Amino acid sequence: MTATGQPALLEVDDLVVNFGTRRERRRGLKPNAVDGVSLTVGPDETLAVVGESGSGKTTVARCVVGLQAAQRGTVRFDGVQVGPVGTRTPATRRAVQMVFQDPAASLNPRMTVRAIITEAWRTHRSVAPTDRTWDAAIEDLLNDVGLDAGIAARRTPSLSGGQCQRVSIARALALRPRLLVCDEAVSALDVSVQSQILRLLVSLRASRGLAILFITHDLGVVRQIADRVAVMQHGRLVETAGADDLFDQPTHPYTRTLLDAALDLEGA
Ligand SMILES: Nc1ncnc2c1ncn2[C@@H]1O[C@H](COP(=O)(O)OP(=O)(O)OP(=O)(O)O)[C@@H](O)[C@H]1O
Ligand SMILES: [Mg+2]
Repeated sequence: MTATGQPALLEVDDLVVNFGTRRERRRGLKPNAVDGVSLTVGPDETLAVVGESGSGKTTVARCVVGLQAAQRGTVRFDGVQVGPVGTRTPATRRAVQMVFQDPAASLNPRMTVRAIITEAWRTHRSVAPTDRTWDAAIEDLLNDVGLDAGIAARRTPSLSGGQCQRVSIARALALRPRLLVCDEAVSALDVSVQSQILRLLVSLRASRGLAILFITHDLGVVRQIADRVAVMQHGRLVETAGADDLFDQPTHPYTRTLLDAALDLEGA
């Protein structure tokens, strides 16, 4: 259940990830990168996970999408326990999509935008358009993410960072996901482009009923997008709160330190 009493779409329970060798793990030589994290995301809710570099945010995100196995704990999607991506049903693989920080690394530079999206539909035929041509559907998708239809014929190296990130979002949306996991998805962009992408995500969430797990180290970004915020430090969640409450009345000293650091940056 989520804080608002809705059944959760995503439930992470007592997740533990340790990157040590078996020997290091047995002897407790390496600290857990993720150390007993539990969180939930409701349908059409945006949960931001914040924390300093190395606190375990990406590792949690990778467990959620199935790119990383955990030593302990469970990930449940829509009430069903899910494991590494190879063990997931096609429906779950499709329903949980990730948007990465670096589109240059996550989008094939040799493929046109059209090919990137059609490849997604070839992998997941169940959501490929059948009522019209794929080109018409791609045009609509690109419009939905604020891109001209002409972009379909281009390759990503000729696009700006913001345009690439819109293409990443379009590819994810092509699969009609229910949960979007964004790992530092706007961190590499200029502040004005960041705001445009955040506004796009907020509007897509509403129009498509998406849930979003939004990983970021930037509290300014959190303010623009999150309903709730989970704060991580050294692999643990130290505080989870509604976004407004967290900014008004942080309860954990580490959260206060993060907020003070963000204010210092704003004032600088
Ligand atoms: N594949 C890996 N192998 C070994 N150690 C790893 C691996 N991935 C992450 N770690 C370690 O796990 C810890 C958590 O890393 P993680 O990338 O999850 O942090 P993060 O909060 O996403 O940091 P950042 O803000 O820099 O992206 C760090 O100590 C990191 O060095
Ligand atoms: Mg990270």
